[in-house]
Amino acid sequence: EWTDKERQAIKKVWDKIDANKDGAEALIRVLIVFPWTKRYFKEFGDLSTNAAIAANAKVSAHGARVLNELDKAVNNLDDIKNTYSKLSVIHSERLHVDPDNFRLLAECITVVVGAKFGASVFTPDIQEAWQKFLSVVVSALGRQYH
Ligand code: HEM
Repeated sequence: EWTDKERQAIKKVWDKIDANKDGAEALIRVLIVFPWTKRYFKEFGDLSTNAAIAANAKVSAHGARVLNELDKAVNNLDDIKNTYSKLSVIHSERLHVDPDNFRLLAECITVVVGAKFGASVFTPDIQEAWQKFLSVVVSALGRQYH
């Protein structure tokens, strides 16, 4: 289901991503732009202001963890569904995360990547492939919800 051009585009974006830094930035954006998502992170401490969110070490660490997790999808493009079946169960049954939130995080990852690379690197063609990749990840994470 992936063309060679898409595979190359996804690899190109992934190679330029700094999972720790960009992951932290993406999760910070989710919590600021979609503030109701804070309800899932009550144990992370102070999320009361945008500055507190941006300075929260647990938020940054968790954002890094989430983006590092995407390495598995990049390296298993043809089997993303099975790659994340366990993680989907965890988010559904243990964490009770509404699956709509996966799309919100994907959106913020794309904003971070676009802002970092700029339009000359993150061209419409590259975005097309990257967006498709994140959609498959989002769908895989939502699969174990009933
Ligand atoms: C935990 C990945 C999206 C909320 C985790 C863990 C991973 C992960 C690897 C650790 C699971 C474990 O304990 O074994 C991902 C990926 C996502 C994603 C790859 C999407 C690309 C989200 C979203 C939310 C969320 C959108 C909520 C808005 C949580 C929470 C935890 C968690 C609350 C537990 C954190 C803790 O207490 O340490 N996630 N996640 N996740 N995730 Fe996600």
